[in-house]
Amino acid sequence: MSKPAASPAMQPSSQPSSSGATGTGTTTGQGTTAQKTAADEKSVMAPNQPPKDKKKEKGTTKRALLKAGNVISSPAHTYTVVKLLGSGGFGDVYLVEDDVLKVKYALKTKFYGAKKTLYSRLKIEAHVLDKCGKAPEHSRKQFLCLRDKGTTADFKFICMDVVGPSLESVRKKFCNNEFSKGTVLNVSKRTLQSVWDLHTLGFLHRDIKPANFSIGLGPEQETCIFMLDFGIAREFKNPNGTLRKPRENIPFLGTPRFAARACHKKEEQSPKDDIEVWIFMVFDLFDVVSGIPW
Ligand SMILES: Nc1ncnc2c1ncn2[C@@H]1O[C@H](COP(=O)(O)OP(=O)(O)O)[C@@H](O)[C@H]1O
Ligand SMILES: [Mg+2]
Repeated sequence: MSKPAASPAMQPSSQPSSSGATGTGTTTGQGTTAQKTAADEKSVMAPNQPPKDKKKEKGTTKRALLKAGNVISSPAHTYTVVKLLGSGGFGDVYLVEDDVLKVKYALKTKFYGAKKTLYSRLKIEAHVLDKCGKAPEHSRKQFLCLRDKGTTADFKFICMDVVGPSLESVRKKFCNNEFSKGTVLNVSKRTLQSVWDLHTLGFLHRDIKPANFSIGLGPEQETCIFMLDFGIAREFKNPNGTLRKPRENIPFLGTPRFAARACHKKEEQSPKDDIEVWIFMVFDLFDVVSGIPW
C-alpha cells in the first residue's frame, strides 16, 4: 500500500509551526505542572492502581509481533500478513491480504498473554462494529465494517476495512503538527457527527481523541473520517431503550489527557461525557501545545 498523502480535507496551518513541544499544563486536582507524555495519550485501565499492576500493563505492550508472510486463519478465510499498520496501548493492527479474494484488510489482534479484560475488549469492539455495520446507511458512513473474526492458539483477532493514518499522525507527519483553522472546523463537524451516530446506536465511545479517528484511503474515501477503537465502548441503553442503571464501582478507563471529568471521578459516563471529551479534542486540534491546559 502506498504511503497515503494528506487528504485535501487536511491542510497544514499557514501559521508558523509550534513544532517539537507537545504541551504542558496543570493537572486537575493535583496542582502540579506536568509535561504531556506518550503515556498520557495512551488508553490505560486504571492509572491509580498499584505500581505492580502498572508494570503488568506496560508489559502487555511488549507482545510478540507478527511478521510479513505469517498466515492467520479464521473458520472462513485465510490471511497473509503484509505489514504492521499500527500499535495501540493494547493491541496491534496489521495489513493482511485474503489469500483467495486477494482483498486487503486491517486485522487487529489481542494476545492471550494480555489480561483477560484486555482481550475481552476485542469482543466489545467486534460487537460495536457489527451493530454499526447493520445501522441504516446514513448513520454508518463513519464506521468501518467488521469483515471477520477468529481465534488462533495465541491471540484473538478481528478483520475490518483498511483506513489511512489517524488525525494525530496526519497532523504530525503531513501538517507540521498544526492544522489550519478550516481543517479543524471541518474535522470537528465530522467527528461530532460520528459521536452523534454512535450515541444514536446506543453506545458510548469513552476514548475520543485524535489518535482514534482516521482518514479514509483512496479517491472516494480520502475526505471521510472514520471513528476507530471501540475497545472500551459501552452500551448505555437497555434493549427496551431505557437507560442502564449506573454502576457503583467504576474503574478509570481511558486516556488521562482525554478523559471526561466523570471518568476521573470514577462515575458512570453518559453521552454528555463523550461530548465533553470531543470538546477537549477540538481544543487540542486547534492548538496541540496549549489547546488543552493540562
Ligand atoms: N482499520 C484500520 N486500518 C488502518 N489502520 C488502523 C485500523 N484500525 C486501527 N488502525 C491503526 O492501528 C493503531 C491502533 O489501533 P486502535 O484501534 O486505536 O488500537 P488500540 O485499541 O490498541 O488503541 C492506530 O495507529 C490506528 O491508526
Ligand atoms: Mg486506540
